[in-house]
Amino acid sequence: MKKYFIQTFGCQMNVYDSWRIAAMLDARGYKPTNDVADADIIILNTCAVREKATNKVFSALGRVRDAKKPSALFGIVGCVAREVGANAFHRIPELNFVLGPQSYHKIPQILENPDARLLNIDLSGLEKFDELPQMVTSPTVCYIPIQEGCNHCCTYCIVPYTRGQELSRSFDDVMRDTKHAAQTGAVEICFLGQNVNGYKYTAPDGTIYRLSDLIRETAKIPEIQRIRFTSSYPTEMSDDLIGMFAIEPKLLPFLNMPIQSGSPDVLKRMNRPYSLDGYMEIINKLRAARPDIQISSDFIVGFPGETDSDFEQTLDIAKRVGYINSYSFKYSPRPHTAAAIMPNQVPENIKKERLAILDSLLNDIQHEFNDSCVGKTMMCLYEGSDKTGQHLIYRTPYMQQCVVRGTIPESGEKISKIKITGASKASIRGEFVND
Ligand code: 5AD
Ligand code: SF4
Repeated sequence: MKKYFIQTFGCQMNVYDSWRIAAMLDARGYKPTNDVADADIIILNTCAVREKATNKVFSALGRVRDAKKPSALFGIVGCVAREVGANAFHRIPELNFVLGPQSYHKIPQILENPDARLLNIDLSGLEKFDELPQMVTSPTVCYIPIQEGCNHCCTYCIVPYTRGQELSRSFDDVMRDTKHAAQTGAVEICFLGQNVNGYKYTAPDGTIYRLSDLIRETAKIPEIQRIRFTSSYPTEMSDDLIGMFAIEPKLLPFLNMPIQSGSPDVLKRMNRPYSLDGYMEIINKLRAARPDIQISSDFIVGFPGETDSDFEQTLDIAKRVGYINSYSFKYSPRPHTAAAIMPNQVPENIKKERLAILDSLLNDIQHEFNDSCVGKTMMCLYEGSDKTGQHLIYRTPYMQQCVVRGTIPESGEKISKIKITGASKASIRGEFVND
């Protein structure tokens, strides 16, 4: 029996892509393995967003090369494949295939012709979603890509190069996948896109579908109890989408809407042309629609030319908004991007210092929010048990991890009412409420 090993780096889009690759191999009779040495085909699905991510991939490639069976097929797919292209074969001559994020449905070609070398980093469109078989069972939280690529061209970002121009999938295709997910085990749907709230599909009859239409239609599916989407570009938060937070209870009161920096000068150089007032206005509208909504952000510190006072403004906006579940990164110059050749690159030690200050602030805000949840009751989604087996792990509507002592409800319900009894920086604790 042939076996496959898949290692996934990077974002949820890659996680989803790996599910589909696994489904294709399952359908061909392959079985998954966690042991590289035992695998007949090894696939690394890769992320290029920061230099560290790309380096991590090449270290992993080296380890796999040393551990794999000589006969095993070995390849990379995803963003690093697109970033480095044919160069990957020079760096790791043992590679059999290098396929970009929109070409992984070509993997069957290498199975049929294992002696050939396969390179395809075209941005050929979204036929990958239609060419590979569906998953037989879906995870409880199922990601559904609705849009891929990005037209915003932030000057730091390699994604427009690796994933190309923005493309939206057809409304019918997305709904077919969503219904399939619901019928095969999903309880929560997370719509995905690099610019997910920019989703716009014009049907042959001229009807225009937006993300709000997908949410409305998905909410009608009885099995689906929670809906969310990521990642949103601030100025594409249209009123119809904001309005969904007011009228659709299945839409979680949580939104990832990265601001990246709190300095208007830095935002301008990042080519993110929104004002802080405009950004705050969107947040106010969201809060008017759903008073309990919480916002998360990504931040980049040490962007070229960032001064102490620019950085102070990032700290100010983080406090003003009170972001939860946020991520912060040191700016990393990437090939194919405008910022990589900008003057006044910030020294590493300053980036490191600023990252530590911002992280500490974000942790304090998170802790405060976690504390504020104590005493409240929330509907939480079961994720699994912890390592000790004595605690259950749930996910709150705000994406906090909630640790619960006890056993899984006999009803088999994935969503339970939980009273929050304690909080720390990283998680909260709770107990079942029986009513
Ligand atoms: N350097 C550091 N962080 C980056 N991101 C994107 N490109 C870079 C880069 N060159 C961050 C942004 C984005 C997240 C996915 O990664 O914050 O929102
Ligand atoms: Fe990484 Fe961005 Fe590619 Fe996702 S789209 S894998 S975050 S580079």
